[in-house]
Amino acid sequence: MSILVLGGRGKTSSRVSRLLAQANIPFIVASRTVSDKVPYHQSQFDWNDKTTYPKLFADAKAKTGKPVSAVYLVASMDPNTPEQLKDFIDLAVKENVKRIVLLSASTIEKGGPVMGQGHEYLVKLHEEIGLEYTVLRPTWFQENFSAAYHTPTIRNEGKFYSAMQDGTVPLISVEDIAAVAFRTLTDPRPHNTEYLLLGPTKLTYDEVAKILSDVSGKPITHVKLTQEEQTRRWIAAGLSEEFAAGLAGMEAGAVASGREGQLTSDAVLKVTGRPPKGFYEFALENRHVWA
Ligand SMILES: NC(=O)c1ccc[n+]([C@@H]2O[C@H](COP(=O)([O-])OP(=O)(O)OC[C@H]3O[C@@H](n4cnc5c(N)ncnc54)[C@H](OP(=O)(O)O)[C@@H]3O)[C@@H](O)[C@H]2O)c1
Repeated sequence: MSILVLGGRGKTSSRVSRLLAQANIPFIVASRTVSDKVPYHQSQFDWNDKTTYPKLFADAKAKTGKPVSAVYLVASMDPNTPEQLKDFIDLAVKENVKRIVLLSASTIEKGGPVMGQGHEYLVKLHEEIGLEYTVLRPTWFQENFSAAYHTPTIRNEGKFYSAMQDGTVPLISVEDIAAVAFRTLTDPRPHNTEYLLLGPTKLTYDEVAKILSDVSGKPITHVKLTQEEQTRRWIAAGLSEEFAAGLAGMEAGAVASGREGQLTSDAVLKVTGRPPKGFYEFALENRHVWA
């Protein structure tokens, strides 16, 4: 049996692929572009082109020699529609997939928008036909500072922007998310649950700025924006109006309100057997990015 990894060369998927390769488990990566530099089986896939969905399963069988038994389901950054997720899950079930691990978010409850709809659908299929599932609900990623949207402004302006105000976030490393994804995809026993995935330290973004300044030796500041200002920044960065408003709304609604800082979970330790990485350790490992 093989594993289908959506989310291509993205932050968690690239690490899930590495763990599968290290464990010699057959898998294929679904990516918008197939690259010679990727040392794994790949298949071209775009959430916005439904004709690419069935080809993934055919490619997996042709390239790994085995049918897909489990899927790591990652929605694109500018979000999918709930219908796209549901269509994909239906196709996976038709293709005899036994297990789906969905990457959602701490801010999205079962039945909530997009991934929340996918979450609800997986639970329904688990109850009706015994589909095995896990839903991963991580908080904001540490790597947003080293390999995503905060990186260019830190490098170019010595600043990063949010609508989080003085709320705290238990930032998590994508290494820990990938480790939980790997276990829930490959454990003989299905988990059939949701996991809230949190890092060990709750920090305000002013405290994050102080840590990044200390480890890089450069002054880095957190610029506090209103929800409306942050929405306009996301739109200027190329996100759709709806998604931009959703992201800024999560920063203001979940973090600035204090809710995210009240979350607790020992899921990373429970599933992987090791504690999640702290932000200071992450910052030390990545200080070359900001120095
Ligand atoms: N960043 C956070 O703090 C955070 C927190 C909680 C949850 N999440 C969730 O985690 C997921 C990943 O977010 P991320 O920010 O970490 O991004 P990411 O995984 O670094 O990137 C997403 C990947 O998805 C693939 N992709 C993008 N558009 C696609 C499309 N139209 N069709 C097929 N594949 C597509 C791309 O892979 P290729 O380039 O190889 O095509 C891209 O690298 C999202 O669903 C997000 O909502 C993120």
